[in-house]
Amino acid sequence: MANDRETAWAAAGGACAQLIEDGMRVGLGTGRAATAGIRALGQRVRSEGLTIVGVPTSDASAAVATEEGIPLGAPGPALDIAFDGADAIDPAGLCVKGAGGAMVRERVLAEGAGRFIVLVDEPKIVPTLDEWGILPLAVVPFAADAVSRSLADLSPTRRPVDSDDGMALIDLALPAGSDWPAVASRARALPGVLDHGLFRLVLADVFIGRTDGSVTTAA
Ligand code: A5P
Repeated sequence: MANDRETAWAAAGGACAQLIEDGMRVGLGTGRAATAGIRALGQRVRSEGLTIVGVPTSDASAAVATEEGIPLGAPGPALDIAFDGADAIDPAGLCVKGAGGAMVRERVLAEGAGRFIVLVDEPKIVPTLDEWGILPLAVVPFAADAVSRSLADLSPTRRPVDSDDGMALIDLALPAGSDWPAVASRARALPGVLDHGLFRLVLADVFIGRTDGSVTTAA
Protein backbone atom coordinates (compact mmCIF):
# COMPACT_ATOMS: atom_id res chain seq x y z
CA MET A 1 0.00 0.00 0.00
CA ALA A 2 1.31 3.47 -0.93
CA ASN A 3 2.45 5.74 1.88
CA ASP A 4 1.58 9.46 1.92
CA ARG A 5 4.65 10.59 0.03
CA GLU A 6 4.20 7.90 -2.63
CA THR A 7 0.61 9.07 -3.07
CA ALA A 8 1.83 12.64 -3.55
CA TRP A 9 4.55 11.66 -6.05
CA ALA A 10 2.07 9.48 -7.96
CA ALA A 11 -0.35 12.41 -8.15
CA ALA A 12 2.31 14.75 -9.54
CA GLY A 13 3.57 12.07 -11.91
CA GLY A 14 0.06 11.34 -13.14
CA ALA A 15 -0.61 15.04 -13.84
CA CYS A 16 2.63 15.28 -15.77
CA ALA A 17 1.92 12.13 -17.79
CA GLN A 18 -1.33 13.73 -18.97
CA LEU A 19 0.71 16.43 -20.76
CA ILE A 20 2.46 13.94 -23.00
CA GLU A 21 1.10 13.68 -26.52
CA ASP A 22 1.47 11.11 -29.27
CA GLY A 23 4.81 11.33 -31.06
CA MET A 24 6.64 13.25 -28.36
CA ARG A 25 10.22 12.70 -27.32
CA VAL A 26 10.27 12.80 -23.54
CA GLY A 27 13.15 13.26 -21.09
CA LEU A 28 12.79 10.86 -18.16
CA GLY A 29 14.21 12.06 -14.84
CA THR A 30 15.71 10.15 -11.94
CA GLY A 31 14.48 9.50 -8.40
CA ARG A 32 11.24 8.58 -6.66
CA ALA A 33 8.99 11.31 -8.05
CA ALA A 34 10.37 10.91 -11.58
CA THR A 35 9.84 7.16 -11.30
CA ALA A 36 6.18 7.84 -10.46
CA GLY A 37 6.00 9.95 -13.64
CA ILE A 38 7.59 7.19 -15.72
CA ARG A 39 5.14 4.64 -14.32
CA ALA A 40 2.15 6.91 -15.06
CA LEU A 41 3.44 7.42 -18.59
CA GLY A 42 3.93 3.68 -19.01
CA GLN A 43 0.32 3.18 -18.02
CA ARG A 44 -0.76 5.52 -20.86
CA VAL A 45 1.54 3.80 -23.33
CA ARG A 46 0.02 0.43 -22.51
CA SER A 47 -3.63 1.43 -22.14
CA GLU A 48 -3.91 4.13 -24.84
CA GLY A 49 -1.24 2.97 -27.27
CA LEU A 50 0.52 6.33 -26.87
CA THR A 51 3.56 6.35 -29.17
CA ILE A 52 6.48 8.14 -27.57
CA VAL A 53 10.23 7.88 -27.15
CA GLY A 54 11.75 8.23 -23.69
CA VAL A 55 15.29 9.47 -23.08
CA PRO A 56 16.41 8.44 -19.58
CA THR A 57 18.74 10.40 -17.29
CA SER A 58 20.07 7.31 -15.52
CA ASP A 59 20.42 3.56 -15.81
CA ALA A 60 17.79 3.24 -13.06
CA SER A 61 15.26 5.31 -15.02
CA ALA A 62 16.02 3.38 -18.19
CA ALA A 63 15.26 0.16 -16.31
CA VAL A 64 11.91 1.49 -15.02
CA ALA A 65 10.94 2.77 -18.47
CA THR A 66 11.78 -0.56 -20.08
CA GLU A 67 9.75 -2.36 -17.42
CA GLU A 68 6.85 -0.01 -18.24
CA GLY A 69 7.07 -0.67 -22.00
CA ILE A 70 8.29 2.83 -22.91
CA PRO A 71 10.59 2.70 -25.97
CA LEU A 72 13.94 4.36 -25.29
CA GLY A 73 15.86 6.63 -27.63
CA ALA A 74 19.17 8.46 -27.81
CA PRO A 75 19.54 12.01 -26.47
CA GLY A 76 20.38 13.38 -29.94
CA PRO A 77 17.21 14.92 -31.41
CA ALA A 78 15.44 17.68 -29.43
CA LEU A 79 12.99 16.75 -26.69
CA ASP A 80 9.42 18.03 -26.59
CA ILE A 81 9.26 17.80 -22.83
CA ALA A 82 11.29 16.46 -19.90
CA PHE A 83 10.30 15.77 -16.31
CA ASP A 84 12.30 15.17 -13.18
CA GLY A 85 12.29 15.42 -9.39
CA ALA A 86 14.08 17.87 -7.09
CA ASP A 87 15.59 17.86 -3.62
CA ALA A 88 14.57 21.37 -2.54
CA ILE A 89 12.98 24.40 -4.22
CA ASP A 90 12.88 27.91 -2.79
CA PRO A 91 10.13 30.51 -3.41
CA ALA A 92 12.11 32.08 -6.27
CA GLY A 93 12.48 28.77 -8.10
CA LEU A 94 16.09 28.17 -7.15
CA CYS A 95 16.41 24.42 -6.84
CA VAL A 96 18.87 21.76 -5.74
CA LYS A 97 18.97 18.47 -7.59
CA GLY A 98 21.39 15.59 -7.69
CA ALA A 99 20.83 13.51 -4.57
CA GLY A 100 20.49 10.70 -7.10
CA GLY A 101 23.73 11.74 -8.76
CA ALA A 102 22.20 12.27 -12.20
CA MET A 103 22.34 16.07 -12.41
CA VAL A 104 24.65 16.26 -15.42
CA ARG A 105 22.27 14.36 -17.69
CA GLU A 106 19.33 16.07 -15.96
CA ARG A 107 20.58 19.52 -16.94
CA VAL A 108 21.39 18.39 -20.48
CA LEU A 109 17.82 17.17 -20.96
CA ALA A 110 16.20 20.03 -19.03
CA GLU A 111 17.92 22.65 -21.16
CA GLY A 112 17.29 20.78 -24.38
CA ALA A 113 13.57 20.25 -23.81
CA GLY A 114 10.70 22.44 -24.96
CA ARG A 115 9.31 22.29 -21.44
CA PHE A 116 10.81 21.08 -18.17
CA ILE A 117 8.37 19.83 -15.53
CA VAL A 118 9.55 19.21 -11.97
CA LEU A 119 7.66 16.76 -9.78
CA VAL A 120 7.78 17.13 -6.00
CA ASP A 121 5.74 16.78 -2.86
CA GLU A 122 5.24 19.48 -0.23
CA PRO A 123 8.34 18.78 1.93
CA LYS A 124 10.52 19.73 -1.06
CA ILE A 125 9.18 23.31 -1.07
CA VAL A 126 11.37 25.20 1.39
CA PRO A 127 11.67 28.83 2.50
CA THR A 128 15.41 28.71 1.78
CA LEU A 129 17.79 26.14 0.29
CA ASP A 130 19.62 26.28 3.62
CA GLU A 131 17.04 23.78 4.85
CA TRP A 132 18.54 21.26 2.43
CA GLY A 133 22.08 22.49 2.83
CA ILE A 134 23.85 20.19 0.34
CA LEU A 135 25.15 21.16 -3.10
CA PRO A 136 26.35 18.17 -5.13
CA LEU A 137 29.12 18.41 -7.72
CA ALA A 138 29.95 16.09 -10.61
CA VAL A 139 33.72 16.03 -11.01
CA VAL A 140 36.14 14.28 -13.34
CA PRO A 141 37.62 11.60 -11.01
CA PHE A 142 41.20 12.70 -11.76
CA ALA A 143 40.36 16.11 -10.25
CA ALA A 144 38.33 14.90 -7.24
CA ASP A 145 41.05 15.32 -4.61
CA ALA A 146 42.15 18.72 -5.93
CA VAL A 147 38.55 19.97 -6.02
CA SER A 148 37.96 18.76 -2.46
CA ARG A 149 41.10 20.56 -1.29
CA SER A 150 40.01 23.80 -2.99
CA LEU A 151 36.58 23.62 -1.38
CA ALA A 152 37.75 22.40 2.05
CA ASP A 153 35.83 25.23 3.75
CA LEU A 154 32.58 23.56 2.54
CA SER A 155 33.28 20.14 4.07
CA PRO A 156 33.33 18.22 0.77
CA THR A 157 32.35 14.55 0.95
CA ARG A 158 32.91 12.21 -1.97
CA ARG A 159 30.21 9.61 -2.36
CA PRO A 160 31.36 6.00 -2.44
CA VAL A 161 29.76 5.40 -5.84
CA ASP A 162 30.42 7.44 -9.00
CA SER A 163 27.70 8.60 -11.40
CA ASP A 164 26.44 6.51 -14.32
CA ASP A 165 28.77 8.61 -16.50
CA GLY A 166 31.76 7.78 -14.28
CA MET A 167 31.94 11.17 -12.58
CA ALA A 168 32.96 11.53 -8.93
CA LEU A 169 30.07 12.92 -6.89
CA ILE A 170 31.11 15.38 -4.20
CA ASP A 171 28.60 16.86 -1.75
CA LEU A 172 29.31 20.32 -0.34
CA ALA A 173 27.77 21.37 2.99
CA LEU A 174 26.77 25.00 2.63
CA PRO A 175 26.57 27.03 5.83
CA ALA A 176 23.27 28.78 6.50
CA GLY A 177 23.08 32.14 4.75
CA SER A 178 25.32 31.06 1.85
CA ASP A 179 24.92 32.70 -1.54
CA TRP A 180 24.09 29.49 -3.39
CA PRO A 181 24.59 30.76 -6.97
CA ALA A 182 27.95 32.26 -5.95
CA VAL A 183 29.10 28.99 -4.39
CA ALA A 184 27.92 27.06 -7.45
CA SER A 185 29.85 29.43 -9.75
CA ARG A 186 32.95 29.21 -7.58
CA ALA A 187 32.85 25.42 -7.68
CA ARG A 188 32.17 25.20 -11.39
CA ALA A 189 35.14 27.42 -12.17
CA LEU A 190 37.53 24.83 -10.73
CA PRO A 191 39.36 22.60 -13.22
CA GLY A 192 37.64 19.24 -13.52
CA VAL A 193 34.23 20.29 -12.20
CA LEU A 194 31.70 19.28 -14.83
CA ASP A 195 28.50 20.53 -13.21
CA HIS A 196 26.65 21.15 -9.97
CA GLY A 197 23.11 20.54 -8.75
CA LEU A 198 21.80 24.11 -8.63
CA PHE A 199 19.01 24.79 -11.14
CA ARG A 200 16.60 27.66 -11.81
CA LEU A 201 13.04 26.51 -12.44
CA VAL A 202 9.89 27.99 -13.93
CA LEU A 203 7.57 27.90 -10.91
CA ALA A 204 4.49 27.30 -13.07
CA ASP A 205 6.11 24.05 -14.20
CA VAL A 206 6.75 22.77 -10.67
CA PHE A 207 4.00 20.22 -9.95
CA ILE A 208 3.41 19.71 -6.24
CA GLY A 209 1.65 16.46 -5.44
CA ARG A 210 -0.25 16.33 -2.16
CA THR A 211 -1.07 13.51 0.16
CA ASP A 212 -4.79 13.77 -0.72
CA GLY A 213 -3.92 13.06 -4.35
CA SER A 214 -4.38 16.64 -5.58
CA VAL A 215 -1.76 18.58 -7.53
CA THR A 216 -0.99 22.29 -7.62
CA THR A 217 1.81 24.26 -9.23
CA ALA A 218 4.29 26.44 -7.37
CA ALA A 219 3.05 29.59 -9.14
C1 A5P B 1 18.56 12.85 -9.21
O1 A5P B 1 19.90 13.14 -9.48
C2 A5P B 1 17.91 13.97 -8.54
O2 A5P B 1 18.05 15.22 -9.14
C3 A5P B 1 16.47 13.68 -8.20
O3 A5P B 1 15.59 14.14 -9.17
C4 A5P B 1 16.21 14.31 -6.89
O4 A5P B 1 17.22 13.86 -5.99
C5 A5P B 1 14.84 13.98 -6.34
O5 A5P B 1 14.72 12.62 -6.06
P1 A5P B 1 13.47 12.06 -5.27
O6 A5P B 1 12.25 12.34 -6.11
O7 A5P B 1 13.77 10.60 -5.10
O8 A5P B 1 13.44 12.76 -3.94
